[in-house]
Amino acid sequence: MPTFRVASTAPVIEKGRVLFAMYCGRCHGGNVVSGGSVPDLRYAEEPTHQMFEEIVRGGARREFGMPSFAGDLTAEQVRFIHAYILDRARESAKADAARR
Ligand code: HEC
Repeated sequence: MPTFRVASTAPVIEKGRVLFAMYCGRCHGGNVVSGGSVPDLRYAEEPTHQMFEEIVRGGARREFGMPSFAGDLTAEQVRFIHAYILDRARESAKADAARR
């Protein structure tokens, strides 16, 4: 269960969901469920959440195949996507716990 928090409300998460489907899903998987070759963002570690903006807009992982979205997304839109990913991470963690 991620401990990282960003300010989020249902409309913010919904905006993030739409943006994720448009810009991220083709590599990271629909509904943030990755096929395996690209990281499953539901299980990202704390330091990744802390670096989220640097990775997504700053291009910090460009040489590993993760493009920079500085030209496509504003910092605010990246926060919406982050809120959506954290919401999906919590949903999945709850579902995993319920199966045990
Ligand atoms: C062209 C395919 C592609 C697209 C599109 C893409 N990514 Fe990635 N992403 C990758 C790859 C490949 C990596 C793994 C990079 C590495 O090995 O460090 C990655 C890594 C990441 C990481 C770091 C994960 C970790 O656990 O270290 C984050 C966060 C991330 N992407 C967010 C996003 C977001 C948000 C979007 C949409 C705005 C997006 N990505 C779109 C390919 C993509």
